[in-house]
Amino acid sequence: MDLYEAIYTLRSIRKFKQIPVEREKIVKIIECATKAPNASFTEPWHFVVVQDENTKRKFTPMYAEAFRLYQSQRRILTEEVKKRLEKARHFAENIHEIPVMVFVFMDPSTRAVKEGFLNELTLQSMYGSVFPAIQNLMLAARGFGLGSVLTTLLNFYEEDVKKILGVPPSIRLVAMVGVGYPAVKFSEPRRSPLEKFLHWEKW
Ligand SMILES: Cc1cc2nc3c(=O)[nH]c(=O)nc-3n(C[C@H](O)[C@H](O)[C@H](O)COP(=O)(O)O)c2cc1C
Repeated sequence: MDLYEAIYTLRSIRKFKQIPVEREKIVKIIECATKAPNASFTEPWHFVVVQDENTKRKFTPMYAEAFRLYQSQRRILTEEVKKRLEKARHFAENIHEIPVMVFVFMDPSTRAVKEGFLNELTLQSMYGSVFPAIQNLMLAARGFGLGSVLTTLLNFYEEDVKKILGVPPSIRLVAMVGVGYPAVKFSEPRRSPLEKFLHWEKW
């Protein structure tokens, strides 16, 4: 698939066909994730793939509650936002329907510099290493005709998620990326005009 077509049709997909995803495709998209740039060659990422129905169901009440909290904190509720939240609510209450959950973790012990040295900056770059990997994963998924959605709401329940998945204490949860064959059409992301963000030479 053409790279630009993949980028221009990478909407968040929250409705999936209830069919499994081939193992070799899962392996490939995660391999693509690990080709991403990473701070000081730390490769701080880890991926836990969950397809088991019973395990997935354990996350649904957590996500639904985190979504309820998030929704109650929204400051501006236009009609359009309300419509979007309504769709998101259905997703929030049924996340076990995501065929493949990819939990993405960051291992801070891989940092290349000593504790305390440029700590804030180092931590930023460690987390910053994981997001390009996630983007690679999502684009690679798109290339296979797979939809995906990047979610962070389960981070509210980081410790519970880690316990369920047997993750060591020092490892941080960054995101859960849902992957599967979409039950909706891919479409172009809706974004503000480029002029709003693009500055030449000076802000
Ligand atoms: C850091 C980050 C966290 C996100 N967390 C969630 C989430 O918890 N749940 C969710 O449904 N979408 C989540 N999203 C997806 C955004 O809601 C989505 O990208 C945005 O609304 C734009 O829509 P689009 O991707 O369809 O263009 C997240 C995206 C990013 C970048």
